[in-house]
Amino acid sequence: MPVLAKQDSIRIYGSMEVPGDKSISHRAVILGSISKGTTTIENFLDGEDCMRTVEAFRLMGVSIEKSGNTLQIDGKGKSGLQEPQEPIYFGNSGTTARLMLGLLASLPFSSFVYGDSSLAQRPMDRVIMPLREMGGKFIGRMETSYLPIALDGGNLHGITYNMPINSAQVKSAILLAGLGATGVTKVIENYPTRDHTENMLQAFGANINVMHNEIEVISNGELHGTEVYVPGDISSASFLLTAAAIIPGSCLVINNVGINKTRAGFLEVLEEMGASVTVLNKTVIGGELKGDIQVAYRSLRGITIEGEIIPRLIDEIPIIALLATQAEGKTIIRNAEELKVKETDRIQAVVEVLTTLGAQIQATKDGMVIEGKTQLIGGTVMSYHDHRIAMMAVIASLITEGNVIIDELSSISISYPNFMDDLNNIVHKV
Ligand code: S3P
Repeated sequence: MPVLAKQDSIRIYGSMEVPGDKSISHRAVILGSISKGTTTIENFLDGEDCMRTVEAFRLMGVSIEKSGNTLQIDGKGKSGLQEPQEPIYFGNSGTTARLMLGLLASLPFSSFVYGDSSLAQRPMDRVIMPLREMGGKFIGRMETSYLPIALDGGNLHGITYNMPINSAQVKSAILLAGLGATGVTKVIENYPTRDHTENMLQAFGANINVMHNEIEVISNGELHGTEVYVPGDISSASFLLTAAAIIPGSCLVINNVGINKTRAGFLEVLEEMGASVTVLNKTVIGGELKGDIQVAYRSLRGITIEGEIIPRLIDEIPIIALLATQAEGKTIIRNAEELKVKETDRIQAVVEVLTTLGAQIQATKDGMVIEGKTQLIGGTVMSYHDHRIAMMAVIASLITEGNVIIDELSSISISYPNFMDDLNNIVHKV
């Protein structure tokens, strides 16, 4: 079991980049593969999850060349996709699963899809329900709530769907299905979720209208290949920025990070807790805002995190919980029940890891309450093969008195394969 040795006096500093955004990388592969013409993707995230999406399209006959972090897709349009000769494996990737179910439902052939043991326990009925309303035909266990699922694709019609949960994966599945449906497909959101699908559909020439919280697509034939630059993943950056925010004397700059408002709730939380946050060189590229983020240590205070910001920082909650253990006073996280259906039950996993490490933290029905500031201690923890739990435990080990022993770290390669090396480069002994 990996031992994360107790750190003597350290500071975090340096200037760096993090790998490309996971959500944007998935979408670029999907839209490039269903478009006509060449799509080039720069700064693609070469992590396990995104490679599942690449493999799915290779099984449908799409030529995708990879050279380092650049992908070149030779798109033949949707009509060029072939019926897969074998079941498609989605691995651990919820985004591949939900988005591909939407797309495959609209394609005129059969497909069989499955995932690993974690993905097989994550709900798929959230996409199956609206896709059935559109005319999609599926068979699966427990009323098609879980993978594996068999699809008999094609013949969809548009619907108007009022989203019962705040999920960009569900929204995107419906929009992708809508590209191949007759009539208008409209999704109405309650709170805004990440809008990368909408931005990228525009860049690939889809007929899409975004009106506040209503998004509609109308099928207009084939999309056209384009060039996509993937900004750094703010979810990956959040782990390293947290290290800088909780270790006195630290100052870290991460360049070229995606700071789309629907993703950047974490920066708002950092600022509200009192950290020093500066964003420079803001630029829009392919409809996505990016910038250079500098975070410096300052004493932190507890805050309440709830409501519309939750979907804008849902993946950052494990690391925000660690941040809160180093803030004076109470941090309350509410309306985050979606955490229970991520790669693992992240409310339970976060509370278990941080309790073992000496934090004052309680699980609630839809979040957690953390009382700070606490000196954390060493201990033996489980990551539940969840990349974000593993990375949170690694960052925690920088400030514990005593070693942290973790069952395994291999899940980190799902979203940030060079995480340990990148972290070692910014940790300096003083
Ligand atoms: C994602 C959306 C979020 C997020 C996941 C990636 C996406 O899930 O947690 O890591 O790329 O659309 P939900 O939309 O289900 O909340």
